Amino acid sequence: MCGIVGYTGPRQGAGLVLDGLKRLEYRGYDSAGLAVVDSGRLEVVKAAGKIAALERALGAHPPAGHTALAHTRWATHGAPTDANAHPHTDCGGTLALVHNGIIENATVLRAALVQRGHQLRSETDSEVLVHLIEELHLGGAPLLDAVSGALAQVEGAYGIGVVSTREPDTLVAARRGSPLLVAIGDGEHFIASDASAVLAHTRSVVYLDDGEIAVVRPGDYRILDLAAVERVKAVSRIDWDLATIERGGYAHFMLKEILEQPETLRNVLRGRLVEDDGDVHLGGLNVTDADLLAVDRIVLTGCGSSWHAALIGEYMLEELARLPVEVEYASEFRYRNPIVDERTLVVGLSQSGETADTLAALREAKRRGARTLGIVNVVGSTIAREVDGGIYLHAGPEIGVASTKAFTGQIAALALLTLKMGRLRALSILQGREVVRGLAHLPALAQRALAQAPVVERIADQLVATTNALYLGRGYNFPVALEGALKLKEISYIHAEGYPAAEMKHGPIALIDDKMPVVFIAPRDAVYQKVVSNLEEVKTRGARVLAVVTEGDTGLARLADYQVEIPETLDLLTPILSVLPLQLLAYYVAVRRGCNVDQPRNLAKSVTVE
Ligand code: F6R
Repeated sequence: MCGIVGYTGPRQGAGLVLDGLKRLEYRGYDSAGLAVVDSGRLEVVKAAGKIAALERALGAHPPAGHTALAHTRWATHGAPTDANAHPHTDCGGTLALVHNGIIENATVLRAALVQRGHQLRSETDSEVLVHLIEELHLGGAPLLDAVSGALAQVEGAYGIGVVSTREPDTLVAARRGSPLLVAIGDGEHFIASDASAVLAHTRSVVYLDDGEIAVVRPGDYRILDLAAVERVKAVSRIDWDLATIERGGYAHFMLKEILEQPETLRNVLRGRLVEDDGDVHLGGLNVTDADLLAVDRIVLTGCGSSWHAALIGEYMLEELARLPVEVEYASEFRYRNPIVDERTLVVGLSQSGETADTLAALREAKRRGARTLGIVNVVGSTIAREVDGGIYLHAGPEIGVASTKAFTGQIAALALLTLKMGRLRALSILQGREVVRGLAHLPALAQRALAQAPVVERIADQLVATTNALYLGRGYNFPVALEGALKLKEISYIHAEGYPAAEMKHGPIALIDDKMPVVFIAPRDAVYQKVVSNLEEVKTRGARVLAVVTEGDTGLARLADYQVEIPETLDLLTPILSVLPLQLLAYYVAVRRGCNVDQPRNLAKSVTVE
């Protein structure tokens, strides 16, 4: 995710904001830049890649000046290049702007700006903002008024910082949806997206709320709402040490990433649901409706957790879009002689967008004439660049090695693809609306499911010494059983297997005794009664049972030793909720066993070798 740091005060700004950026590196980013205002001049230096590349570009003599603004970018619109890095400047080099978030109406605004003669130099959504501010500021409006006038024209989420050569000691910052704070020093002030960027200088901060705008000068700061009414804000004191806040106060990135899933689900859905039509808007597919209608078969491919998400996609697409779907391990697909032609849609799922096997499978599919799509998190990654089109997850960087928020983002993206393919075929507008509404409720339901964390933690205490575990589910929750088992084994090194619950009778049941914990994923869905029968079979053989059940379901209490509840949703969306307690369970068990949760042995975040 992107980071913002700004400074105004008596010291030289460039070095200070650069140090602040380094404190934000843990969040992940792919380019960086800074702007310095000095005696009516604006200097901007940007570089794709690590902050070290920006330092090299700055050389031994960074621009001098007492007001500076810096940014680390994690690409969402446009690849990570020098030109797309922030700060962005207006046509005449008066203004510089940094932005976190997504401007949803950027395409329309960009076209209008170009028509009015503006020269935009990047592919980002962010750049439109600086040109909108330019129109008002150069027309005579003070920076504060120009910024609020421009923000009134944009839809979407933002945390921004702006500087102008016309008001050389001023930083203007504004927030809607992306965090931002003002940090109070002695005769100097900072703005930042994260307190860790300024903690070396001060512990006193004022957190901006959505709809607020700050005018920050060396000797004072003011916070107003967008109607220019001044707000009185409390100053907060930061008690954490730097090491803790680099993970946002969480003990591990994995826990942080599990708990931020309500937000990442919001991001994958933002701007894409069209409730009235029971449909979706997927701007990045780059495939016409006519071409999508010509598709007669879908192949979903990926590795690991991405492959598990694909299995859920298969069930969704076959049920609602009535298209035959196959799920292939990418590593197998590429070495077979797969039946793929120009009517086959091959969809690669990859958090990193760099997994060698998935990339090779997509290249092979393309070579055979198939249309290819990517469901990818990392913008500008190789897979994202090579496929015909796709759906970005917008989940932010996933730093913990075990996939968590990317997995739920992938399932949500597959539901979007299902709606698209279904509405072009037999899915009625009423069915479409039901799924759209189900998706829109998911972030709040995920929040509720995650509130069960203390329950899961207590269950983890009981499972910490086990050496084996079995995970069972049916229908949409069979792949969740696979994913739950993978999470446990990869970070806690406990042997765990996932099975379709009924398959257990065909072999694995021999393993069951009173030492074997069995995790049942048993929400109230179309196969609930069948799962209950399987649970009876397991319990008769003495297993210790943990059941993931729908809120208020008391039917399993007599059979399960431990229960954890998830809210009710549509059957096809239950995996997004049912996997949450399983992620937490794996996490808490691994922590209790003293495992290195974020960096499990032998695993890499991105597997770029076959
Ligand atoms: C498991 C996990 C891996 C990845 C797999 C594919 O927690 O993270 O199984 O899912 O290596 O990675 P991507 O999605 O980056 O292609």
